[in-house]
Amino acid sequence: MKAPDASLYLHDLEPSIAEFRTAVFEGLSKPRKTLPCKYFYDAEGSRLFERICEQPEYYPTRTEFQILETYAGEIARLIGPHASLVEFGSGAGIKIRLLLEALEQPRAYLPVDISREHMLAAAADLARQFPDLCIAPVCADYTQPFALPTLHDLEPDTQVGFFPGSTIGNFTPMEARVFLGRTHTLLGNGAMMLVGVDLRKDGAVLTAAYNDAAGITAAFNRNLLRRINDVLQGTFDLTGFAHKALWNPELGRMEMHLVSQRVQSVYIEGRRFDFEDGETIHTENSYKYTIPQFQQLARESGYSPVAVWTDTRQLFSVHALRAI
Ligand code: AVJ
Repeated sequence: MKAPDASLYLHDLEPSIAEFRTAVFEGLSKPRKTLPCKYFYDAEGSRLFERICEQPEYYPTRTEFQILETYAGEIARLIGPHASLVEFGSGAGIKIRLLLEALEQPRAYLPVDISREHMLAAAADLARQFPDLCIAPVCADYTQPFALPTLHDLEPDTQVGFFPGSTIGNFTPMEARVFLGRTHTLLGNGAMMLVGVDLRKDGAVLTAAYNDAAGITAAFNRNLLRRINDVLQGTFDLTGFAHKALWNPELGRMEMHLVSQRVQSVYIEGRRFDFEDGETIHTENSYKYTIPQFQQLARESGYSPVAVWTDTRQLFSVHALRAI
């Protein structure tokens, strides 16, 4: 399929509505209801996520950006010239600019994202700014195995994976190992992987970050129900579910839930789902790691930690790992 920008060819592996339906039916049929957080990111959800990043309480995005800005030169030296970059969950493509500007003659950029139109718009912008860069967007669900397109006449010196934003925290530690193992296979031995990881910290700072005063995170959470209503003829009353975000210290994770405000039934494509008063749909986990914890997880996934950068307040970390 042709992207809006004539120079961009999209490798389209977008998840189907059938996959969404199956995931929703499965998740809402469990004794403890869940929905996968990857479905937050339709066009509206991607927009809401970007607004979350601008909220004063939500520190991860701006802190990671500061770290990348401060250490871009060092990171670029570590990567070396003629790199090919694969970004998992590229979103608006703001962070990659910092790297592309710092790198010596980067060869290719392959953004991988589940939110197609959003990614294509970002890729088209980038193509205007970096006319010599080969940009090959891939619409795919990277929580599942997928293949990268073959780029002809390209011999990068280094393959680099870029997984910013602490999105790795949305996986359980077990899933994170599986994901990192797959990136190892995808990028090959010797590849470099850059991963943004949110650090363990005071529960109050975390809880505030996922309960912004303007209510954007709440809207982002509820948007998942709106998407079910739109795509699967759902009958969710969005005011009947409250946003709840809590710090789970035993498991080291933030959790987001949608809490039913009364006894109610919802129909999705004609199927009925019953909710008790106070019953929750668990919509997201966001695991937080200490630096040694994450380095250990990386080792267990075939990577050797080579460097880690943090901000002065130790809120966030960016790890450089080498595939061995
Ligand atoms: C940046 C996608 C990992 O878990 O912090 C933001 C998404 N959820 N607020 C995170 C999110 C609620 C986010 N990721």
